[in-house]
Amino acid sequence: MIKVALPKGRIAKESLALFEKVYAKKFVFDDRKLILQQDDFIFMLVRSQDVPTYVHYQAADIGIVGRDVIEEQQVDLVKLLDLKIGKCKVVVGSQEGKGIDYQKPQIKIATKMPNITRKYFATKAVAIEALKLYGSIELAPLVGLSDGIVDIVETGATMKQNHLKIDEVIMESSAFLVANQHSFYEKKALILDIYQKLQEVI
Ligand code: PRP
Repeated sequence: MIKVALPKGRIAKESLALFEKVYAKKFVFDDRKLILQQDDFIFMLVRSQDVPTYVHYQAADIGIVGRDVIEEQQVDLVKLLDLKIGKCKVVVGSQEGKGIDYQKPQIKIATKMPNITRKYFATKAVAIEALKLYGSIELAPLVGLSDGIVDIVETGATMKQNHLKIDEVIMESSAFLVANQHSFYEKKALILDIYQKLQEVI
């Protein structure tokens, strides 16, 4: 039996679709159910930002999670495979025709990812204050909450429609197959089998 944490949201459907492709069967969660036991699997649906926690504490043996989330949380996980789905970029953005005034003494950056943000600006030796928000990041500079944002861009539509532009790309992200360190030893054959099968379909 193997416990798999799948992310709800952006990469949910695509990640379950990968398992369906590999095992040539349907894995369907009932209505609002968050857990699905089928064959050798226990699938669980968790918030994408919570996948590292489930895997780290071995509530799940393996999981699928974005590189951006892994980098932000710095949790100890075995990173197994780039699944090449859920592709996005983590970018610095600001208002069109305005930008970020780096001469200002206290630059505020709104973001869901304060760790990535602080690390990035630290390497550039720019002092910023990271304002942690939980969503609608693009709104912050429009109403004067922040000078800029660090956020995820997938299609670019959200930034465009809110008259923001990309200033810098911090990282390219995609979804990774990750494993708990103990599970990786205890269930090595099973996990490597999943790894190989997934590798064949991506
Ligand atoms: C992300 C991000 C942007 C949006 C970008 O949020 O924070 O708001 O997607 O996508 P686009 O470039 O295709 O317009 P997400 O939808 O992951 O939701 P969340 O705020 O719940 O994390």
